[in-house]
Amino acid sequence: MTEQLIPSRRAFPSDDPIFALNAEAQAFKAAGGSVLNATVGALLDDAGQLVVLETVMDLWRELTALEVAPYAPIAGDPAYLKALVQRHWPSATQAGAACATPGGSGALGLSLRNFLERGQSVLTTAPYWGPYATLAAENGVGVITAPWPAAGEPLDATAWDAALRALMKTQGRVLLWLNDPCHNPTGRSLSAVDRVVLLGLLRDIAALGPVTLLLDFAYLDYTREPAAVAEALADYAALGAEGTVLVGACMSLSKSMTLYGGRAGAIAFPWSGDPTLQAALTQSCRGTWSNCAKAPQALLLRLAREGKAQARLSAEHRHWSEVLASRALALDAALETNGREALRWQGGFFVTVPTPEPEAVCTRLKAEGVFTVPLPEGLRVGLCGLRAADAPRFAETLRRVGDGR
Ligand SMILES: Cc1ncc(COP(=O)(O)O)c(C=O)c1O
Repeated sequence: MTEQLIPSRRAFPSDDPIFALNAEAQAFKAAGGSVLNATVGALLDDAGQLVVLETVMDLWRELTALEVAPYAPIAGDPAYLKALVQRHWPSATQAGAACATPGGSGALGLSLRNFLERGQSVLTTAPYWGPYATLAAENGVGVITAPWPAAGEPLDATAWDAALRALMKTQGRVLLWLNDPCHNPTGRSLSAVDRVVLLGLLRDIAALGPVTLLLDFAYLDYTREPAAVAEALADYAALGAEGTVLVGACMSLSKSMTLYGGRAGAIAFPWSGDPTLQAALTQSCRGTWSNCAKAPQALLLRLAREGKAQARLSAEHRHWSEVLASRALALDAALETNGREALRWQGGFFVTVPTPEPEAVCTRLKAEGVFTVPLPEGLRVGLCGLRAADAPRFAETLRRVGDGR
């Protein structure tokens, strides 16, 4: 053991758990086994190849030396920030207080350092994307959860109210990370009614102290219901414009542009012009990654200027959303045939099959060559990597190994 490493940093797993599961699946395959690998977090076509959006790659190839090599401004190119905000909120007239970040992850981490003191807790949903906990731990804050509605069930307003009030009471402020619409890992969005209820609770609690609602927009381009996504964004915009709650978004080019390795994104508060907030965000950038990569910012600016490329990209998004929808439908049909409830995917790359003892079930599935990610609430299945034709095998194997329900 490296004695130079401080004691509090010595007990981590050697690999990220999801990447480790993926490696296990690869090893099973290399040993000649037939593998159904639903652990992957990137979009694959039915031949198992990584999907790279052609419109984006064409724009990438056009980038000139001066769009790639120089430093970007510390807080990011203002035109990039505005263009990214307007992809989601076309009616926004400005990015507001904002900065470029390495992916949505950079934006999430930065929010912890600016809206919470160390030792305080961020509120999010259960289930949530696992790295939320890692980001929180790295920033010295805790994670408190309130339940994401189960398929077909309403939001548990009592539990949300209690969680919000408890946090406001203990720490005098609330930061909520809300991965809506297109929630990872359930694949469902809040219904219009649930959203009204939750935003009402946030307004109420904001009367007691500062509340920040940070929307995590990782998957918005992949949905069965673009109109419902637009409605949700309009509701969040209305709350932001009201000013009672500070509303912002983490945006990412990882999934939306299939530029996972480009490490680009942003955090933006389009309804805030507060120079103090802007200065704090810029300071965080300088003190963590200094400046972000320039090339993806330049690419987004080219996209914002080229109507034809936008239309082509949105056709690509529609195509892959339909592929995801057909995989989700095949999975629901197979689950129902095997005596389980449908999962009712609406958007994003994942669904979660509720099950007791997820770790034990995951281990039994692995022995059959079926790889999923165990979460406290169930098994996360990556529709992004699951062929519709493999859905029956998944559901049948799950029934065979049993999950103690
Ligand atoms: C819910 C959610 N938020 C944020 C991210 C961040 O991704 P990135 O840092 O690549 O933008 C991911 C990636 O998987 C995600 O699933």
